[in-house]
Amino acid sequence: MRAVGYGSGLVSGRRARPAQQPMMQSNRQLRYHLTTFGCQMNEHDSERMKGMLESLGYAEADRRSEADLILFNTCSIRETADSRFIAHLGEARRLKRESPERVVGVGGCWAQSVKEEVFERFPFVDVAFGPGQVNKLAEFLTSDSLTAQGYFEFEGFTGRLPARRERPFQGWVQISVGCNCACSYCIVPSTRGREVSRPLAELVAEVEAMAVDGVKEVTLLGQNVNSYGRDLPSGPSPAVAAAAGRREGASFAELLRLLDGIDGIERIRYTSPHPKDMREDVVRAHAELASVCEHIHLPLQSSSSRILKAMRRTYDRARYMDRVAMIREHVPDASLSTDIIVGFPGETDEDFEETLEVVEEVVYDSAFTFMFSPRRGTEAAEITAGLVEHPIKVQRMARLLELVQRGARERAQRFVGRTLEVLVEGPSRTDPDRLRGRTRHNKVVNFAGLACAGELTDVEILAATSQTLAGEERLLARAAV
Ligand code: 5AD
Ligand code: SF4
Repeated sequence: MRAVGYGSGLVSGRRARPAQQPMMQSNRQLRYHLTTFGCQMNEHDSERMKGMLESLGYAEADRRSEADLILFNTCSIRETADSRFIAHLGEARRLKRESPERVVGVGGCWAQSVKEEVFERFPFVDVAFGPGQVNKLAEFLTSDSLTAQGYFEFEGFTGRLPARRERPFQGWVQISVGCNCACSYCIVPSTRGREVSRPLAELVAEVEAMAVDGVKEVTLLGQNVNSYGRDLPSGPSPAVAAAAGRREGASFAELLRLLDGIDGIERIRYTSPHPKDMREDVVRAHAELASVCEHIHLPLQSSSSRILKAMRRTYDRARYMDRVAMIREHVPDASLSTDIIVGFPGETDEDFEETLEVVEEVVYDSAFTFMFSPRRGTEAAEITAGLVEHPIKVQRMARLLELVQRGARERAQRFVGRTLEVLVEGPSRTDPDRLRGRTRHNKVVNFAGLACAGELTDVEILAATSQTLAGEERLLARAAV
């Protein structure tokens, strides 16, 4: 691990920052406010940040204006994420001007991608740190040896820090960090570094402890989850050796098998996998292991083999479709979701039509769709030929969305009339008299019922749109008969 305090060298005249005494300042508990942008890995890191801050004696403030420590966990995957965050940063500047003793911290992928520029562009920021450097933030807050501005980089596993879970019955498990792929559009390899997996025994112990704590659903996180374990030394038969605590490594499918054996863990999800690593053993785990949910995210990005090559995705349309066929063969009812980028440099009308063809053929249960945006330091950002103009991207996006929604609506009808197990998350967002939960297929269900948050209950599905299902809790339906 390395701490680089270059900020102080670049910005002249900064005072040395006295350490905040976490518990009290003028007999008052210090408070933090944290805003999270980006993906589930960032949400996980934020939970760890909160856990870490609370173990240092900080309490969470409802509003930024009430906080002694204003933190942002940033994302840099697309331009929109950058600009949303910068708008929020304006408020932090104003608050810092009002009370200069406040500490403003910026963590995560955006901070990593601009590094020293953070302090040049935003001199009111005190501390910046890359993803995974949450532990360094603790050092910064409690040390008085650092100057006012510090930038920290390189990985520690945030998964090893205490968490403060948003919902006590759902937990994230960071199984690896970094990514060894070289997708030409993606900033992640430069912000999160090479892939490093956490040892198997450590993960099993973490999930066991979560189960004891009341967690029912775990989501395994990594930039490329299903290449888990390739960097770890492997040993004898995984079950035997892991039980004896001797083996460090295992394949992703073996990890799923071991976690499935943990009492109390009812559901296992994971994100994000890469189609190239979606092997038969992983797909079979969905069919064979009771807790592994019937939902697979299979990021397509494009289905023009020419564009896939330029994206360096290492599969072509035919190989992707083979993966889909394998999933449908072993887990016919699984829901499938995907990520698609429109307007990658060089994407012609014909290339885009190919993407539409695959979307029509697969019929996804949901899709995340993105307009290509060049990210600094990536190979695709250097491409100057065949750039797709914004209005064309917008048109393509509209056509794609229409097709995705039509497909999702169609697929969702298979649930109507069935009774599905739902993990209750709380009241419905649109109608507080109803409940909201999620099926194993990762569909949101709004339903009439009496169950409490964190319970698993059976819900009869009465209607379905492209996004959500509607229903009635089984017990309630029976009582009415
Ligand atoms: N432009 C647009 N979309 C992108 N994604 C990643 N990088 C870019 C980019 N430069 C999308 C991909 C990825 C998802 C998380 O974000 O579809 O799977
Ligand atoms: Fe955004 Fe990617 Fe970083 Fe997640 S890993 S916060 S998506 S840049």
